[in-house]
Amino acid sequence: MRYQDFYQKSIEHPEVFWKEQANHLDWHTQPNTILSKDTFKYPQWFEDGKLNLSYLCIDKHIHDGFGEQHAIIYDSPVTKKKQYITFNELQVEVSKLAGGLQQLGLQKGDTCIIYMPMIPQAIYAMLACARIGVIHSVVFGGFAPHELAIRIDDCKPKAIITASNGIEIERIIPYKPYVDEAIEKAAHKPNHVIVFDRKLGVDIPQKNYDIAYASLVKNATFTEAIPLESTHPSYILYTSGTTGTPKGIIRDTGGYATALKFSMKYIYGVNEGETFWAASDVGWVVGHSYIVYGPLLNRNTTILFEGKPIKTPDASTFWRVISEHNVKVMFTAPTAIRAIKKEDPEGKLLKQFDLSCLRYQFLAGERCDVATLNWTQKQLNVPVIDHWWQTESGWPMLANMTGVELQKIKAGSAGFPVCGYDIQIVDEAGKKVLPNTEGYVVVKLPLPPGTLQNLWGNPERFKKGYLERFPDYYFSGDGGYKDDEGYIFITGRVDDIINVAGHRLSTAEMEEVVASHKSVAECAVFGVHCEIKGQKPLGLIVLKSGENSLSSNIQEEIIQEVRHEIGAVASFKDVLIVNRLPKTRSGKILRKLLRNIADTNEYKIPSTIDDISIINEIQAIYKNHHIGIHK
Ligand code: COA
Ligand code: AMP
Repeated sequence: MRYQDFYQKSIEHPEVFWKEQANHLDWHTQPNTILSKDTFKYPQWFEDGKLNLSYLCIDKHIHDGFGEQHAIIYDSPVTKKKQYITFNELQVEVSKLAGGLQQLGLQKGDTCIIYMPMIPQAIYAMLACARIGVIHSVVFGGFAPHELAIRIDDCKPKAIITASNGIEIERIIPYKPYVDEAIEKAAHKPNHVIVFDRKLGVDIPQKNYDIAYASLVKNATFTEAIPLESTHPSYILYTSGTTGTPKGIIRDTGGYATALKFSMKYIYGVNEGETFWAASDVGWVVGHSYIVYGPLLNRNTTILFEGKPIKTPDASTFWRVISEHNVKVMFTAPTAIRAIKKEDPEGKLLKQFDLSCLRYQFLAGERCDVATLNWTQKQLNVPVIDHWWQTESGWPMLANMTGVELQKIKAGSAGFPVCGYDIQIVDEAGKKVLPNTEGYVVVKLPLPPGTLQNLWGNPERFKKGYLERFPDYYFSGDGGYKDDEGYIFITGRVDDIINVAGHRLSTAEMEEVVASHKSVAECAVFGVHCEIKGQKPLGLIVLKSGENSLSSNIQEEIIQEVRHEIGAVASFKDVLIVNRLPKTRSGKILRKLLRNIADTNEYKIPSTIDDISIINEIQAIYKNHHIGIHK
């Protein structure tokens, strides 16, 4: 099949195209209405269809005779454990946990936060919620209690499911105490906290809202999946926006199932029954779509890996997992590859393993630099495919659709538009730009199935942030360009969002924390280049008059405060004291200029700058602190 024909069909006849794809699922009630509009006049998919994600991920495969196939391989170098979980076993775990949730009073439409490390119970919890129409919101474990509290107040969960601890290489992370601290900070109080005890020999603080996961499941009855409307929200996933408050992306049920099933075959080129591995975390969108729902819908064995690309125990761990579990298609972030490459530049560790099982290596989460792509290609000797998407889209928007027609790989480009996404590059006025001209990356409405439905409790922000800037288009927040052959290159965010080790973070949120320090008069936080993590945040602060940086530990206090308020995942480790910040004459801090100087990019001095001499001052400070070229 030719990619161009298939793609064109999806754009010209979206209803025909997606109806055909939806037919690959087992619906409880087949949809008749394919594309309609919701009360905000925003497109929605399969309005009158009914189905259940948990049923499609588990029960369907058992009915088809695959109950003894491994659904999940839990591989945990940090605990030195491996567990092989069949679809039959998964059904027992999930349906009993769903029964337990019902006994606690959770019903269709209620919300439930899941704050879990990478253990099978995290997947059970997601699928148990989906089974009974409870809307889950998984919060990444690297976020601090304060961030968890913001999410508790926003989605008002009836229950939180957590574990006693997580493990970061060798460090024990106190998940349950973090949940207690978050509940204390939040205005909304959930009724129950269900705690899975990992039995790591650490005391778990007890609260009267606690329910032991093990006894809840033991005493619960088997619960069938209930048919849900296609438009029923399956989950809320918070992601960083350009303000200090994260946005709760809402995902539907039927559109999502259709898109994921489609993507497993046509983008990732993986067959039912094969092993698929996305080395991410269930707290991110990659984890939702490609550790949990996508592979399980497609009857793939999914790998749940509780470890890091390096140090657990070394830079060979990814290759060991691929070889040992017969992984056909793998997905990770370029930052993970850069970390491995730094430890094992010649690929000596990699050569110890038979990787002949691997068909494709996918990369996403941040821009993939050419050197990383080429190194991976050379080492693995399989197509290495960069592809682009976001929490909002839920599944890839740009890719090389390997299951349709493998295109020539062009390093630096995330490929071509995926079926259903009419992607354009436009200028400030919304006019399409010429090839090789950088602009804003937008997608013509309607977006295909599986993409965001709205923002939880904030439709105004949804419209303003994504739909109003370029009428008739969805605005991605990324910049990029298309070359003469139609390959699209994503150049980076055009807002205050940065990407640190494949993790999306808001500098505005960090700035709020820094600015709240008692000694800080004003500040700027922005992302600068980092060899391993792609970007890392840098804070510049101006002290209040009378404050003396030599007699106190202001920088360390600020670093600790960001770690405490946002979390270790922010990797906020650099704060510099400056006398003043460059501003426009109207008083706006020139963050882009600060970043460009740090990254030693070419830059124009804005004509609006209030005092040009500050540039030399900033350059001298960067030099003293080995920022940028001066490293
Ligand atoms: N729970 C608690 N803390 C966590 C955490 C979690 N789930 N995940 C990360 N952290 C902590 C880390 O321990 C670290 O703390 P430290 O500052 O005390 O060392 C901090 O958050 C930053 O973590 P991380 O970004 O993982 O950096 P690292 O230096 O430990 O490791 C890499 C660097 C490149 C190996 C690592 O970032 C990595 O594997 N990245 C790939 C990410 C990925 O797959 N993203 C998926 C997007 S598709
Ligand atoms: P997240 O919502 O956390 O998945 O982050 C999405 C953002 O990551 C996008 O808006 C991009 O800025 C960036 N991103 C993801 N994948 C790529 C890619 N392949 N190339 C360039 N940027 C990417």
